Amino acid sequence: MNDIDNTNDIDNNGAIAAEPWRIREAAFDPARAFLHETLFTLGNGYIGMRGTPDEGTREGGGQTLEGTYLNGFYDTEAIRYPENAYGLARVNEFMLNVPNAKRVAAVVDGERFSLDGGRVLAWERTLDLKTGLLVRTVEWETATGKRLRIASRRLVCCARKHVAAIEYAVTPLNFSGPVRIDADIDAAVTNLQAGDDPRVGSALTGPSLIETRRDVGAHDVLLLQRTRHSGFALATATASVPSGAAARVAPAGLGHVFEADVAQGATFTLHKYVAYASSRDMAIDAVGPHARAELAQARAAGFEALAREQAGYLARFWTDADVSIAGDDALQQGVRFNQFHLLQSVGRDGKTNIAAKGVTGEGYEGHYFWDTEIYVFPFFLFSRPEIARALLQYRYNGLPKARERARQMAHAKGALYPWRTIAGEECSAYFPAGTAQYHINADVAYSIRLYLLATGDFDFMAAQGAEIVLETARIWTGIGGYDRKGRFCINEVTGPDEYTALVNNNYYTNAMARMHMTFAADVAERLRAERPDDYARVAHAIGLSDDEIRAWRAASAAMFLPYDDDLGIHEQDDSFLSKKPWDFANTPQENYPLLLNYHPLVIYRHQVCKQADVVLALLLLSNQFSEGDKRRDFDFYEGVTTHDSSLSSCIFSIVASEIGYRDKAYAYFMETARLDLDNTHANTQYGVHTAAMAGTWLGVAYGFAGMRLDDAGLRFAPTLPDQWTGYRFNVQVRGALLEVAVDGAGTGYRLLRGERLAFAHGGTPIALDAQRAHIRMENK
Ligand code: BGC
Repeated sequence: MNDIDNTNDIDNNGAIAAEPWRIREAAFDPARAFLHETLFTLGNGYIGMRGTPDEGTREGGGQTLEGTYLNGFYDTEAIRYPENAYGLARVNEFMLNVPNAKRVAAVVDGERFSLDGGRVLAWERTLDLKTGLLVRTVEWETATGKRLRIASRRLVCCARKHVAAIEYAVTPLNFSGPVRIDADIDAAVTNLQAGDDPRVGSALTGPSLIETRRDVGAHDVLLLQRTRHSGFALATATASVPSGAAARVAPAGLGHVFEADVAQGATFTLHKYVAYASSRDMAIDAVGPHARAELAQARAAGFEALAREQAGYLARFWTDADVSIAGDDALQQGVRFNQFHLLQSVGRDGKTNIAAKGVTGEGYEGHYFWDTEIYVFPFFLFSRPEIARALLQYRYNGLPKARERARQMAHAKGALYPWRTIAGEECSAYFPAGTAQYHINADVAYSIRLYLLATGDFDFMAAQGAEIVLETARIWTGIGGYDRKGRFCINEVTGPDEYTALVNNNYYTNAMARMHMTFAADVAERLRAERPDDYARVAHAIGLSDDEIRAWRAASAAMFLPYDDDLGIHEQDDSFLSKKPWDFANTPQENYPLLLNYHPLVIYRHQVCKQADVVLALLLLSNQFSEGDKRRDFDFYEGVTTHDSSLSSCIFSIVASEIGYRDKAYAYFMETARLDLDNTHANTQYGVHTAAMAGTWLGVAYGFAGMRLDDAGLRFAPTLPDQWTGYRFNVQVRGALLEVAVDGAGTGYRLLRGERLAFAHGGTPIALDAQRAHIRMENK
């Protein structure tokens, strides 16, 4: 197409070219279509629109998923167990595929543009990470030889939660005559049905959205539906505005048909504005009026203004969040693509969170996991702290359900967060790798601790944070106890590694529980000293006694942390080292991931890990380990880890950096950075991997730049991978914005915002302020 500037980079099989700020394909390749729908998804933390063609998915050939999602908008289905047990999760919440309101199609002589008919003469599709626009330009010849250019631009407004917009421009290239544009809502979409892969699809018993009303006006449509089980109302609204030629308009189904006589070379354009609103955010009878009001405002602003607003929003985002890497375009693209998708996926309203697949697909059913707190949270904390705060607000809102769940699990006090959920209900139907992952409580507490360290926001602690930390800490004294040797033990849990389940004294869980209980006691004491009224309110509300605080200190001090003296490593749990090693040499490549090829019991009986477990503790609790410990643990666990989970490689990369394994650090980082762009886990078609995407940021900041923030303060220990000439990123800490720029000669630190920031570089203390806003240091 006209605007291809470096054609050499383009593989005309439809592969994505390596460009730092764009995701671009120069041909339509049916074999890649399903995957690229995910990659080209647009979202704003609420609406997610897969990058399917404007005209709708193809009739013939190739798998596809016409998916539009609203973060946190779900229906429920009862979970049915052929063999029942007390306390199993009862209800599954799953993110709904909502009506496709973006559908627009050109029609000439009754022939509708489709990739299945006529001839595609040229095709280009570009996701521009700076403007947030998805631009598709296609030249098409009808069966009767008429040629058209169709240029479409699509955006999902970052600054307007409920709104998306499409521009669809049709130009006849070799004829003059009538051109039709059909614009409607496709309400016949459904969710994927569960198949053999436990990571994909829901078990549905029927359609989830039931129409309650439709209004088709002169140019606009309002469709009202309600969900079958969860009882929510949904409004989907569109307004279509033709321009460029005098158009005749007629209603058709849930939309309109626009027709104009267009001269050769002239352009007939339709702007379609889309709004979604649901009763998760407002009263049931407000959803229709709200969607219409949002639509009216968007339409009054016009497409160009929305596009400018979007570019402005993203410019601010990139100023704070961009990680730039010199010397490798493909990698740079991967890193930015990941950051862009995190922004697109993250809920920012305190009622929603970030799903394992964001709003790009139905893998893991739109559920939120610990992925948020341990992987995604730091990225937002250090780039957009207000989003991090909203993620904590989400957990605060989930406390009542977490308390209920704790009672179901026989805990007299406290709150237990669900392993996977949308609105707070435990949705894990497989408890050994679900509910048993009690570490979720400590993960949430860890993120609150990091939030406090990074922002100093004790108001949040007084208002919400303390209550979360204290209520969740109670679970440890509930499930743990002292053994005959006086050690505090935690039995029958599953750690992060899902290839090992229901064990005693999982190292990660015990170490994180210790951190959690110590933090809870510290928070309680600080609150009592500094804000006695708040302390009295919280303590009264949850019935907290001084005995409990003492019990947390005692349990922390006596916490059992398994260690094997012979091997000099931390044992993943009491039984891990006595299990049979997995026979990696005789495991064919096609048997990975193991979870799709072996019964869980077979896996559990072996010394084999899906993902970082002890190695994750080495990172999160970094200052509790010697370098020798880190090296021995890394060496051992690397040998038994499959990295079948996308949450694994980034953690190994960071720890490898820290212990000086430069090549491994780089190799693991590369596995993470382009995981979705290159579809290395072979399931990105069902959605991106948001934890791994955030793991890329962690790999740069925590990994290569050696950043840590803990009680000892903020510090860096930068190294430069041999393959790069430099890299640069910003972090926001305590209201200051710091630029960290690493090159072959050293590291430059620049205070971009804020009055003062103190930190350390490789052990040397530094303080920057208005007088001295920049310093260069040599890398160690
Ligand atoms: C991982 C979990 C993770 C989940 C969702 C699983 O494959 O083992 O740690 O929380 O995916 O991303």
